[in-house]
Formats: sequence, C-alpha cells, structure tokens
Amino acid sequence: MNQVNHLFQQNYSVTRKEREELNGHKSFTIWFSGLSGSGKSTLAAALDQWFYKRQIRSYITDGDNTRLHLNRDLDFSREGRKENIRRVAEVARLFNDAGVVVISSFISPFEEDRIAAKSIVGSENYIEVYIATPLETCIQRDAKGLYAKAQKGEISDFTGINSPYEVPLSPDIIVDTTDKSIEESLETITNWLLENKLHI
Ligand code: PPS
Repeated sequence: MNQVNHLFQQNYSVTRKEREELNGHKSFTIWFSGLSGSGKSTLAAALDQWFYKRQIRSYITDGDNTRLHLNRDLDFSREGRKENIRRVAEVARLFNDAGVVVISSFISPFEEDRIAAKSIVGSENYIEVYIATPLETCIQRDAKGLYAKAQKGEISDFTGINSPYEVPLSPDIIVDTTDKSIEESLETITNWLLENKLHI
C-alpha cells in the first residue's frame, strides 16, 4: 500500500504473457531519440508500417502529438522535458502490458531522462535507437522552419540551438539518416529486431 495516498496496486488475471501469446508476438518499446528533423517521425512511420504488414500490433507516440494532448501542460524547460519523458514512458509501459509494441519518438535529449524511461518500461523491454543525423543536416532540412525561428531568437530552449542534446551513451541501434534512403535506415532497425527481439 502507498501509505501517504492510501492506494493499492491492483493485479488483474489476464497476464501480459497471455496477451503476447494471443497477439503472436512479444511486446516491447522502441525508443527513438534524436534532434528535431533527424528523421524520427519518418522512420517511426516506416517501422509502424513494417510491423503492420507482419501483423504485429504497434503504436507510435511522438512529441508533437503527445504535447498537443496528454502533455499540453508541459513546456520545453528542463523540468517540462523530464515530466514529458516520464509520462510517455509510463504510457509505453501500459501499452506493453497490453501486448502492444510501442514506437516512442521523442527528442529525449537528456541521458538521465532516457535512463528513467528505460527503468519505467523495464530494461528487458527497452530498445534505444539513436537517430544520429547531425545538427547541420537537421538545420539544412528544417522541414518545420523551427531552426530558422530558433536562430532568430523566436523560440527559446530549442534543442541544438539554445538547449542541449546529450548523445546517448549506450544505444542499441544507431542510424544516421544523412544520405540514406528511408528503406536503408529502416533495414538497420528491422535487421536488429529480427536478430534480437521478435520471437515469443
Ligand atoms: S522532448 O525534448 O523529448 O521533451 O521533446 P518532444 O516531446 O519530442 O517534442 C519535440 C517536438 O516539439 C516541437 N518543438 C520543439 N522541439 C524542441 N525544442 C523546442 N523548444 C520545441 N518547441 C517545439 C518540434 O516540432 C519537435 O518535434 P520533432 O519531431 O522532434 O521535430
């Protein structure tokens, strides 16, 4: 029991393992970290399609969509980002418990927060993919026009410009999308999954 709030953990009878067996695959979380414009969303969408075609139940959570709804109260301060990552890691944990593969696509710029996410999801369920596309490439792409705004001082705390990005210390997979097709980058991830994770 949580002594302060008088809460009791409830345990239900259908187990995660039974849900995984029903689905015919394991559930886990693929955590994409990388700069804005690095290719996280594009690769997340391609991977989601790859799973779908193989009848693997997957779902994407990402920064823009989550911050428009569940995390609409959070900003891009250090504390805002920490709470953002904590909540979306909890969401990933719930989806995994429901037997669903989660593709979490967040800048998640701080190693401390990624370690916390790994701990919430469970280290055995957490696959970290560092989208290592360099800042110069992301600035050149600037698909959303956000780097230009940040460079003019119109956005505060913008990752890579006036807020830090800490390179992941021990990612499972590294993908630099510069000069690579989506298919090539996707293959790096799916080859790893086929070798390591997909079997029940
Ligand atoms: S974080 O750092 O993990 O909490 O960020 P995340 O939840 O992934 O949200 C990133 C998206 O928010 C938009 N955006 C910003 N990004 C970085 N810094 C600032 N200040 C900022 N303001 C808005 C931007 O569209 C990010 O999406 P991606 O897909 O990464 O480009």
